[in-house]
Amino acid sequence: MKFFIDTANIDEIKKGVEMGMVDGVTTNPSLIARENKPFEKILKEICKVVDGPVSAEVVSLEAEAMVKEAKVLAALSDKIVIKIPMIMEGMKAVKKLTSMGIKTNVTLVFSASQALLAAKAGATFVSPFVGRLDDIGQRGMELINEIMTVYRNYDFHSEVIVASIRNPLHVMDAAMIGADIATIPLKVIEQLAQHPLTNIGVEQFLADWEKRKK
Ligand code: E4P
Repeated sequence: MKFFIDTANIDEIKKGVEMGMVDGVTTNPSLIARENKPFEKILKEICKVVDGPVSAEVVSLEAEAMVKEAKVLAALSDKIVIKIPMIMEGMKAVKKLTSMGIKTNVTLVFSASQALLAAKAGATFVSPFVGRLDDIGQRGMELINEIMTVYRNYDFHSEVIVASIRNPLHVMDAAMIGADIATIPLKVIEQLAQHPLTNIGVEQFLADWEKRKK
């Protein structure tokens, strides 16, 4: 299972990379806006420290304009993946970008039918948002199950990025289903390592070590 880190903050990305837990990065316009730096500068910095795909989202809503934006972003680095919203104009853009050899990540996916369209358009990655579904009382993880089943049935090659992850259970449920990738905030990556019995065990071992006869 690949871990992407879900942030545009370079310090968080560096921490994740040092842990050896970052196989790629996802950003979105909200995450970029928090950084108060020019978009392209942020992307270049991220591409320097990460060895893997870096998703950068377009903000146009028409296919032609999306492709134009995508070309500029893709020229920054061959690590850049173009994030495209799951709308019909977006699907047109994905088809075009795929034919040009530019990788895409279809975002804001909330149903299996949307994921089916994204795969048919040739998306490299598809990002269903589990946390936002849970927030409105729908089971996000059921969507992941459905998408994985559809993709396996037809041997689609789009990789599923489980997105909008809020807690370690989201990551583990996604892993149990066999999702290709989880894109995870740094805080949740850190939470995955935590267990109180580990801390108690470490303290006990160190205390016993200090007591040994020298
Ligand atoms: C990643 O691709 C998404 O943009 C991100 O996971 C959304 O997360 P949120 O629902 O916590 O904003």
